[in-house]
Amino acid sequence: MSNSLSELVLSIIAVLFYGIAFANSESADISEYPYHVSVEYNNSHSCSGALITELWVVTVASCVHRNGATNLTVRFATTIASTGGEQLEVRSVIVHPDFDSISYDYDIALLKLRVPLQFGDGKLPIVLPSSEYEIADETAANVTGWIIDTQGNPASQLTVVSTPTVNQTVCKSSLPAFKDLLDSMLCAGHMNADAEVCQGDLGAPLVHEEILVGILSYGLGCTVPTFPAVYTRIDSFVTWIFDHTGTIIY
Ligand SMILES: *[C@@H]1O[C@H](CO)[C@@H](O)[C@H](O)[C@H]1NC(C)=O
Ligand SMILES: *[C@@H]1O[C@H](CO)[C@@H](O)[C@H](O)[C@H]1NC(C)=O
Ligand SMILES: *[C@@H]1O[C@H](CO)[C@@H](O)[C@H](O)[C@H]1NC(C)=O
Ligand SMILES: *[C@@H]1O[C@H](CO)[C@@H](O)[C@H](O)[C@H]1NC(C)=O
Repeated sequence: MSNSLSELVLSIIAVLFYGIAFANSESADISEYPYHVSVEYNNSHSCSGALITELWVVTVASCVHRNGATNLTVRFATTIASTGGEQLEVRSVIVHPDFDSISYDYDIALLKLRVPLQFGDGKLPIVLPSSEYEIADETAANVTGWIIDTQGNPASQLTVVSTPTVNQTVCKSSLPAFKDLLDSMLCAGHMNADAEVCQGDLGAPLVHEEILVGILSYGLGCTVPTFPAVYTRIDSFVTWIFDHTGTIIY
């Protein structure tokens, strides 16, 4: 029992710090997922995020809550992490006021760029859902992320995985008891043992038909095959997002 518990904890740590993806994933090109961005500290990839306006990026609080804006940059329009594309500095970090760094409840943050991004090839915003948006269970969505292998070596190429959403009740019963599953969280992943389980790195955007449905907040790693990954549900936070960014006109 304590062995398997510590294995779980280690797996959580592994996916939190590395974010791994294997089976069912394919190499992706940024031109197809131009909203996908890399959030960097000290010029190296730290987690993923999504571009929502020329000035704002959404990512998970768990990635950015410790450090503030110092030495934080966002890299756009690159398929390869930590190189190429366009790098812009972050002016400010807004962490959701209810974010809990232990439970990862309310795991969302906004990054405001120092200067506006010029949209172009490989750098375009993603549409936010309305606050009434609800994605049905068992609906395919694309998650993009930068994978790192079990040795911790960054696989620098962007990856995409098609992953189905999971019924909230079914998901709750498959998660370990210590993990909260709030209404503002969404599960996605295959529930059978040999399918994909590790879907991207923290902040990896989950997109269904050009709408940003979630950002990856929590996963149990590739060695625990029957747990879906937990995303922050964007529709639960659009009002909060608009309070900071102003209403977004598409
Ligand atoms: C950035 O670099 C500084 C100095 O090398 C280090 O103290 C700090 O922890 C680094 N920050 C991150 C998030 O890696
Ligand atoms: C920011 O980067 C500089 C230069 O690499 C480093 O000396 C400094 O410690 C970093 N500061 C933080 C807060 O990471
Ligand atoms: C999905 O969840 C709802 C409650 O959220 C439940 O009533 C329903 O039976 C579930 N469906 C399946 C297939 O488990
Ligand atoms: C996933 O991405 C592919 C390639 O861009 C696209 O054809 C497909 O429609 C996307 N799937 C969903 C559910 O959005």
